[in-house]
Order: sequence, then structure tokens, then C-alpha cells
Amino acid sequence: MAIDAGHHVLNLDSLTYAGNLASLSEIEANPRYRFSRTDITNAGGVDQVVKEFRPEVVMHLAAESHVDRSIDGPGQFIQTNVIGTYNLLQSSLNHWRSLAPDAAAQFRFLHVSTDEVYGSLGAEGKGKFTETTPYDPHSPYSASKASSDHLVRAWHDTYGLPVLVTNCSNNYGPFQFPEKLIPVVILKCLRGESIPVYGKGENIRDWLYVEDHCRALLTVVSQGKAGETYNIGGNNERTNLELVRTLCDILDELRPCSSGQPHQNKITFVADRPGHDLRYAIDATKIEQELGWRPQEDFESGFRKTVEWYLSNQSWWESILSGDYQLERQGLNPSEEVQ
Ligand SMILES: NC(=O)c1ccc[n+]([C@@H]2O[C@H](COP(=O)([O-])OP(=O)(O)OC[C@H]3O[C@@H](n4cnc5c(N)ncnc54)[C@H](O)[C@@H]3O)[C@@H](O)[C@H]2O)c1
Repeated sequence: MAIDAGHHVLNLDSLTYAGNLASLSEIEANPRYRFSRTDITNAGGVDQVVKEFRPEVVMHLAAESHVDRSIDGPGQFIQTNVIGTYNLLQSSLNHWRSLAPDAAAQFRFLHVSTDEVYGSLGAEGKGKFTETTPYDPHSPYSASKASSDHLVRAWHDTYGLPVLVTNCSNNYGPFQFPEKLIPVVILKCLRGESIPVYGKGENIRDWLYVEDHCRALLTVVSQGKAGETYNIGGNNERTNLELVRTLCDILDELRPCSSGQPHQNKITFVADRPGHDLRYAIDATKIEQELGWRPQEDFESGFRKTVEWYLSNQSWWESILSGDYQLERQGLNPSEEVQ
């Protein structure tokens, strides 16, 4: 399937705390864009949308995605990530079976997943996740995503649904809900508050600029081979402490602290995340060699763009922080939802 500017897009989203129509204002008037407020845990609702829209491609990104929230309340992660994926698969399968042979051959179901399903690697330099690394998830979030990945592959192997699975490293960039590490650090700096670093800040993540992830997803959905998995990574490994210091340095230049002190002085080490994986790193050789995708942003350019975006879009994040969530620590209250 060729991806071109002529496609129509239906965006299906239930608008949880993480969803935000203000992030889509640039495209909402486009005649080829439509929005449907639908919850993927509602099988009938999903089925109706799929039947009416008759997609050539389903790109499945809807999820509960924050590890700390999954520790406090795992139930919603099972509902959305596991049951919701099952509902999308069933509706897509029924739809795919109704297509004429040519259209059925072109149809793709792209499931967007995470590198966290592979578990934890040893210290820096010791191996990377490939597409054949055995699954070993440790958090309710990664376990629910691993479960959904298995469902997607089973719908391919059992029913022949032409699926693709991608497993990506940590994303960052504009419009990221301010509970993830990078916006937390930027906004804590801008508000003059202490900057929380979990444990000793030794955990290592690979960081990928969100638009590079989007380009990878378009590449996979248009050129990937049905039934295959593609790992997506930025080749940008950093300890959390290195990452936080880099952001502080950029902010020292672009928005110095009113006290004249470097932002790094506000770094505070806080209790570690339970079950915190030490290191994730992606081997992206397959997507690079087979599909020709490579990240366009590196650590320096991507982080600078991201900091500049949060500086220029204060009203976007202020309106989020005027609601229920105000950058408070999550993930230390695992008893809340246990039944
Ligand atoms: N952010 C990352 O670093 C990263 C890395 C790898 C993979 N991923 C995957 O990419 C996808 C998108 O991640 P994100 O960071 O944008 O997540 P996010 O939490 O910021 O946004 C999730 C979106 O899904 C919607 N949603 C949640 N539950 C829903 C439901 N039941 N029905 C319909 N819509 C629902 C929310 O309203 C929101 O718009 C997820 O599948 C995630 O697992 C994310």
C-alpha cells in the first residue's frame, strides 16, 4: 500500500486524561480528517466505527501507556491494552473478511508496541533487543502490552489477518502528556520546583524523537511484510541522570533560572520505581536494512526542539496542569486497585 496525501484518516480515541483535542487543532478542519470519540473497550462501538469507515489500514496506538499509573491502577491497563486490542482485532478481522480479494491483500493492521515487553538488559554496551528477544515484561504496563502483542500475532497465525507489530523505544517531543520524564523535567524547571530523579538516575533508555517514530510507522505500514515485527530505536542511549542534566543545560541557555543558579541544582533523588528495569536498548538493524528507515533527529537536535516547543506552547501545558494532574509523583501506591 502506498501512503500518499490522498488518504482519509479517522482518529478513534476515547479521550482519557492523556487524550487532548487541542493537540489536533492544526488538522481538525482538514476535510480528509475525522474524529470519533470511541472507547476501544466498547466492542460494539469499535465495530460500528470500523464497519462505517471501512479502513484500508488500522494503526493501533490507543493505550494506557504510563508505567507509574500501571503500578497504582493495573485494571485499566488490562481493559484497554488487552481487551481493547482484542476488540480491534475482532472488528478488523470481520472487516478484512468482507473485503474483495485485492483490497484484502492490501489491508494491514499495525500494532504499535514498546521495547519494554523485552524486559531489562544489563549495563550499557551489553546487548540490545532484537525482534527475536524473548518477552520478559516486568511492569503491569509492559505485561499488558506483551499480552496485546501476542494476541495480534495469534490473529495473524490463526486467522491470517495481515498484521504488523512494531516495538519502539522511549519517545519524546511536542505534545507529550506532562507525566513522562522529559516534560516533567522541563516543566519542573520552568516552575522552579525540584526535579525528581528515580533511584540514582542510573537507568538507561534509548530515546527517539516522536516524528521519527511516526515516519517509521508509515514506513512499516506501507512497506513492511505482513506477519513481521520491526524494532524501532533512536540509537540514543542515555542514563536518566545524563538526560536530565542535558535538559537542564539547554534550559540554562534558553530560560535561565531567576536565581542565577544552574537548573541542575534542583535535581533531587527520590525513591526508585518498583520493578524499575535497568536498561532498554533497541537493535534497529532490521527496519534500517529491509525498509530503509533511519532516525533524522539526534539527541542534541531532538531535545533542543522539544524544550523550545514547551517554551513556546505554555498555554497547552498550563491548561493540562490546571486539571487533576499537577506533576505529582505516581507509582508508589500499588494497593489502590488491588481486588
Ligand atoms: N510514548 C512512548 O515512549 C512509547 C514508546 C513505545 C511505544 N509506545 C506506544 O505508542 C502508543 C501511543 O503512546 P503515547 O505515548 O502516545 O500514549 P498516551 O498515553 O500519551 O496516549 C494514549 C492515547 O490513547 C487514548 N486511549 C487510551 N485508552 C483508550 C481507550 N480505551 N479507547 C480509545 N482511546 C484510548 C488516549 O485518550 C490517548 O489519546 C501506545 O500504544 C504506546 O504503548 C509509546
